Amino acid sequence: MDIGDVRRIAVIGAGTMGAGIAQTCAAAGFEVSMRDVEARFVEGGLRRIREPLEARVSKGKMAREDVDAVFRRIRGTVDLAEALDGAQVVIEAILEKMDLKRALYAEMDRLGPPEVVFASNTSSLSITEMANATSRADRVIGMHFFNPAPVMKLVEIIRGSETSDATVRLARDLCARLGKEPVEVKESPGFVVNRLLVPMLNEAFNLLQEGAARAEDIDKAMKLGTNMPMGPFELGDYTGLDVALDVMEVLHRETGDPRFRPSPLLRKYVRAGRLGRKTGRGVYEYGPE
Ligand code: 3HC
Repeated sequence: MDIGDVRRIAVIGAGTMGAGIAQTCAAAGFEVSMRDVEARFVEGGLRRIREPLEARVSKGKMAREDVDAVFRRIRGTVDLAEALDGAQVVIEAILEKMDLKRALYAEMDRLGPPEVVFASNTSSLSITEMANATSRADRVIGMHFFNPAPVMKLVEIIRGSETSDATVRLARDLCARLGKEPVEVKESPGFVVNRLLVPMLNEAFNLLQEGAARAEDIDKAMKLGTNMPMGPFELGDYTGLDVALDVMEVLHRETGDPRFRPSPLLRKYVRAGRLGRKTGRGVYEYGPE
């Protein structure tokens, strides 16, 4: 299949990443089906797309007709078969749990015609293991977007053990159509960005636990000292502390290397439900948005 054959993209998962990817695809002119397991999650995804776009209209940065056009191209659903109907590419952005992903891939493999390409937005899990739940391992690939997906330029393209050159080419061409820059990475825990970024966030938690500096000062130091747009705690709260902990667990488990040991303070926050902005409290407290 060629990029010219791709008209509809099914995005599975309407959380922060799924909604951002659906928006990115619709803004690039693709028809999009966005599926989640419950109607309230689908509605949440649609709201996550609408609010920042409305803000852009209010600021005069985007025309109302363009926002409406993006919305007209997105169809929300809880039905997996309906989501896959007519789609040439699926981008999966569900919870980072391998057993859930494998069950989904097996189900999608039954529902979708054999030529449909499955791309996972996983932030660190094995594409090979997901692909092995299907009968089309050559057409399974990683496409790792970054939060906020409509804004961040990078997509890591991850080649699983069996991924074909044609599938890699399609993913690269899709990135070009979405206005994204791809970087190709062989499958390895955390790929490039999360292998480097998340241990840095984790180390910030170790520093905080040791009492070396206040959270605000650790953030300030990294912003002013390295020109990061957000400090490590602001970024952790923004992307979710549970996501950071998941990545550390994978790095630690897959490599067995103690330098990837999750910070006990990060783990404690996640256990307390302090997941960041999405729960109103992470390292910092947030009022209603
Ligand atoms: N849809 C469309 N546009 C959006 C948007 C959205 N969801 N969210 C933001 N924007 C636009 C805004 O409208 C604005 O556009 P403008 O410049 O034309 O006015 C622009 O993006 C910048 O947004 P804001 O003015 O609201 O805010 P900032 O200038 O403070 O930038 C930020 C916000 C882009 C989030 C910036 O702080 C940043 O780059 N932070 C770091 C993000 C990062 O590192 N992400 C990667 C995390 S790691 C990851 O995702 C991997 C995972 O696996 C863990």
